[in-house]
Amino acid sequence: PEPRLLDRFGRVGRDLRVSVTDRCNLRCTYCMPAEGLDWMAKPEMLDDDELVRLVRVMVGLGVTNVRLTGGEPILRRSLVDVVGRIAALEPRPRIAMTTNGIGLDRLAAPLAEAGLDRVNISLDTVDPEAFKDLTRRDRFRDVEAGLKAAADAGLTPVKVNAVAMRGVNDTSVADLLAWCLDRGYALRFIEQMPLDAQHAWDRSQMVSQQEILERLGERFTLTPVTDRGSAPAELFFVDGGPETVGVIASVSAPFCAACDRVRLTADGQLRNCLFSRSEIDLRGPLRDGATDAELEDLVVGEMWAKKAGHGIDRPDFTQPDRPMSAIGG
Ligand code: GTP
Ligand code: 5AD
Ligand code: SF4
Repeated sequence: PEPRLLDRFGRVGRDLRVSVTDRCNLRCTYCMPAEGLDWMAKPEMLDDDELVRLVRVMVGLGVTNVRLTGGEPILRRSLVDVVGRIAALEPRPRIAMTTNGIGLDRLAAPLAEAGLDRVNISLDTVDPEAFKDLTRRDRFRDVEAGLKAAADAGLTPVKVNAVAMRGVNDTSVADLLAWCLDRGYALRFIEQMPLDAQHAWDRSQMVSQQEILERLGERFTLTPVTDRGSAPAELFFVDGGPETVGVIASVSAPFCAACDRVRLTADGQLRNCLFSRSEIDLRGPLRDGATDAELEDLVVGEMWAKKAGHGIDRPDFTQPDRPMSAIGG
């Protein structure tokens, strides 16, 4: 289809990130409090028919890549079915998922079978004790098994996402890279963004891209890969390649100017940016009997309103009302 998700800065929406649940089975300290959050009630959430219909509308508007996120997407019971239904859309979008990996040992093969193309797995440390402190759950081995199952099922390239955090993994970034290189996973470090439920993010504490690269440089020789496209990660060949390591420097070097994303939350709200201060409701119109054309108009209008960038460094910046786990990562 003709791409119709245009904004006033000339960007084209191609990448839809769909949060399929706000729940999670980990409690990463940088994301949510130990007791969890006030989860969405089932009637507030899109059911499978509603979710697939909105994805279909978006594909009709030019979306070519669909990423399932959460919360933890594997906690949605119907996940395999949802993937199968998205894979049956015409034209078929590429389908990826961002997950903490728990449960993938069992689900990687059925998900691949249903049409999932690849996964990004969040893993901030390979020290089981540090993992337990960070996530408040003793489940490092489950993630390890999930990674292996993903690779075995052909959900490749298997990417590992690691948020760089002071006092947690800032001094051991090279260990994490060595671990991933050994196993054939493509590691990307992420600068921490102000998206925590606790509103505790502090720019001066943030581990920057520069710091990550300096640390990695103590053990590896990194050379920049050119031709990054709209990908958020800046890539570097490790010791001459072909393996690479990436850094997603969303704060110190934002990729907003090339952003091709739009997000749908588990409760059917459309967001044109991770940091939007507002969303538009698609669930209401959907349940009130809106036609595809009416839904399309709402989506097209929201895309046109997309701001130039997140503005984290501006004095008037305020964090979005919802935390990352409810928006979708
Ligand atoms: P690939 O297609 O594999 O490159 O996926 P991705 O990096 O876009 O997605 P993933 O879910 O793995 O996200 C990695 C990191 O990028 C997370 O910390 C996300 O929050 C961050 N990220 C994803 N989308 C956006 C965005 O639109 N804006 C910003 N600032 N960060 C984003
Ligand atoms: N800043 C950057 N990345 C974050 N993630 C979760 N919270 C933040 C944050 N505040 C990461 C997760 C996962 C990805 C979807 O986003 O660890 O890898
Ligand atoms: Fe769960 Fe992801 Fe938040 Fe960790 S960062 S608690 S894995 S939603």
